[in-house]
Amino acid sequence: MPAHTIIEPFRIRSVEPIRWTTRGEREQLLRAAHYNLFLLPADDVLIDLLTDSGTGAMSTRQWAAIMEGDESYAGSRSFDNFRNSVQDIFGYRHVIPTHQGRAAERILFSVMCKKGDVVPNNTHFDTTRANIEFVGAEAVDLVIPEGRQPGRCHPFKGNMEVEELETLIQNVGRQRVPLVMLTVTNNSGGGQPVSMENVRAVSQVCRRYQIPLYFDACRFAENAYFIKLREKEFESKTPKQIAQEMFRYGDGCTMSAKKDGLANIGGFLCTNDDKLAQQEKDLLILTEGYPTYGGLAGRDLEAIAVGLQEALHEDYLRYRIASTAYLGNHVFEYGVPIVQPPGGHAVYLDARAFLPHIPPQQFPGVALAAELYLEGGIRSVEIGTLMFGAAAKMDLVRLAIPRRVYTQSHMDYVVEVILDVWRNRERIQGLRLDYEAPFLRHFTAHLEPLQAVLAR
Ligand SMILES: Cc1ncc(COP(=O)(O)O)c(C=O)c1O
Repeated sequence: MPAHTIIEPFRIRSVEPIRWTTRGEREQLLRAAHYNLFLLPADDVLIDLLTDSGTGAMSTRQWAAIMEGDESYAGSRSFDNFRNSVQDIFGYRHVIPTHQGRAAERILFSVMCKKGDVVPNNTHFDTTRANIEFVGAEAVDLVIPEGRQPGRCHPFKGNMEVEELETLIQNVGRQRVPLVMLTVTNNSGGGQPVSMENVRAVSQVCRRYQIPLYFDACRFAENAYFIKLREKEFESKTPKQIAQEMFRYGDGCTMSAKKDGLANIGGFLCTNDDKLAQQEKDLLILTEGYPTYGGLAGRDLEAIAVGLQEALHEDYLRYRIASTAYLGNHVFEYGVPIVQPPGGHAVYLDARAFLPHIPPQQFPGVALAAELYLEGGIRSVEIGTLMFGAAAKMDLVRLAIPRRVYTQSHMDYVVEVILDVWRNRERIQGLRLDYEAPFLRHFTAHLEPLQAVLAR
């Protein structure tokens, strides 16, 4: 390459305007949303970093494939394209389409888990934990200690503590552990990758105890690229070869195609187990749809088939990982505490260190996210005490970067806003929870600033 600047490896052919609001308007909007950014109308957000899920821009090839969608109820050609693309990368015998990742989770755990079971993972994502708990099983997080310390640098902070896994299996008994999961990359732990060495070690333990290993594969391509960058053995392998090897150590996966499927909707569940696959398909028919569409349109299956392959292109991954690091490193330079090193899909601000005067029970992550919106119209999401309750080990604010959507100048603006909030951080106050749903409360919770409560 002639120059060192890593550029967006695409041209933009279709644009969507974004809307400015005044600070006064944002104050009103935030009050109306009960200080929960999920409850804001998206049109009132300038830069939307709420999630990288389903928010990516599709390529010309994906749009072209969409026009080829076969909408036949059963046996559609689009399903064949989808299954072939998935099997090419993941290699599992059965590919079951679902409308998104959590549907794959619900089906998997309904079939494999029962009350009293224990499911270890490096860190369960919120929907994964909720679906496990919904069937009465226990979700246990076994990420390495470095993964729980936001400021600590480690190349593979998503790794699982292998000794703890073995101890857990011995303590609860093999029959109570129906499966082990590895989340690649580890979203709730900061978008941090899992090394191939760790995948092999976890797989060995699973094989020894005859426990199936499943991947929560949402960001498998980003994880593969981190392995290429940080694990010597893989420096000359392609991201696709790395992903293929990783999946060979497992028995199946759940996937949200809204992430590294580069699609706006969709997911799938894979397994090598014929009996399990039959039970899963039966359940699929009950709630999602026939096994050759699983709640998706044929055109969605086509978009995913192309997207999965594009997500593994090396020039795309180089730009993707570099643009996330660009945001993280620029704010860190000025002392802003972030989860180190920056993750694959997101930068995570450490709200407990950012706002040490706000205790976890006053939701420092929610307070910081609210302030980023007030200051610059940026929407982010809390991953902490509101999301996980007392189980929260950290209070983070995730700035998730949609794939192929924002340019470097958008990121420069985000850096500026974060630094303005950082300079005035002492003024930020905690919040009180006014309403919560019985599960996944962060999506619909109502909060109120403590100042407002005290002023009454
Ligand atoms: C690691 C992980 N697992 C599972 C899911 C659930 O996927 P979906 O939102 O498609 O239901 C997500 C979504 O963000 C995720 O990040």
